[in-house]
Amino acid sequence: MCIGRARSEAGEERQDQVIGDDMGAFDELKVFCGNANPKLAQSVCDYLNIPIGKADVFKFSNDNTFVRILENIRQRDVFIIQSTCTPVNDNLMELLILIDAAKRASAGRITAVVPYYGYGRTDKKDQPRVPITARLVADLLTAAGANRLLTIDLHAGQIQGFFNIPVDELTALTTLGRYFQDKGLDDPVVVAVDTGITKRARDMAEQLQCPLAIIEKRRIGNDDHAESLNVIGDVEGMTALTFDDEVSTGGSLTSAAWALAERGVKEVYACVTHPILSNQAASRVAESPLTELVVTDTIPVPENKRNGKINVLSVAPLLGEAIRRIHEGQSVGEMFK
Ligand code: R5P
Repeated sequence: MCIGRARSEAGEERQDQVIGDDMGAFDELKVFCGNANPKLAQSVCDYLNIPIGKADVFKFSNDNTFVRILENIRQRDVFIIQSTCTPVNDNLMELLILIDAAKRASAGRITAVVPYYGYGRTDKKDQPRVPITARLVADLLTAAGANRLLTIDLHAGQIQGFFNIPVDELTALTTLGRYFQDKGLDDPVVVAVDTGITKRARDMAEQLQCPLAIIEKRRIGNDDHAESLNVIGDVEGMTALTFDDEVSTGGSLTSAAWALAERGVKEVYACVTHPILSNQAASRVAESPLTELVVTDTIPVPENKRNGKINVLSVAPLLGEAIRRIHEGQSVGEMFK
């Protein structure tokens, strides 16, 4: 809940009312961003046909992040776009400080738009004496003053429940699936690269109207080392399309590609929502049996990582449409029907 100014359906202005989250239109839509992915934020503003909000976001020489919003946002419907990708802690801190600045500038409502939600993999206490950092981040965003979260393909849907504010989780699955539908893969089979992603891979298989196979993956220790063990389902002679929420070291993806090649697939394509592409991931992809890896721009992919196999699709229309609908009080779920 927040105090703000809104327009009724008849169009007259109501001032200083308590506005609930089912509220329709706030005064004016404003979009700001930090330094994580300004290109995506600009594309979202292009979709919405509005200029991007003016703000200074920089670090002082003492390493302290500073933010100043350079325009009036009193009672405005403010969306702050910032992926918490590398450098994760700096980007997270920028986001928190931007939210704090917007709150103190009397924004009517603040939506944290976090296309990639970092720390999502630390979402449960699965060993003694470990944190649940995904929950900590949720608490930090809320404490800073976010009234809503808009995000894409969380590592686990349950992270939504870490928030006591409304969460809209979008999926890039349909965008990625449509790309491969248009490509027209020959005799496709969608492959979940681990059991955790099976449900979303099944949704993609339904979209492509093809069968599903699953790779049983075992992770060894906490050091990013993944080992693909077993392919469950028929893949021989088919075109495999793997789906995963993120590619980090590329270990899961490339070991899946090698396992599928050993099982006699014709070709292996992959799609992944969040291209973290840490360490040697891009070169691992280049050296793997993958024909093409299609990712989105929730995280920027620098030129030096864009080898001939990596193709980037934009989620700007997806985010832009969701922002428009949230601002106008329309259904976001309808976008996926
Ligand atoms: C794991 O559960 C995720 O869905 C991804 O498979 C994983 O984060 C990818 O990491 P990496 O590329 O380092 O294997």
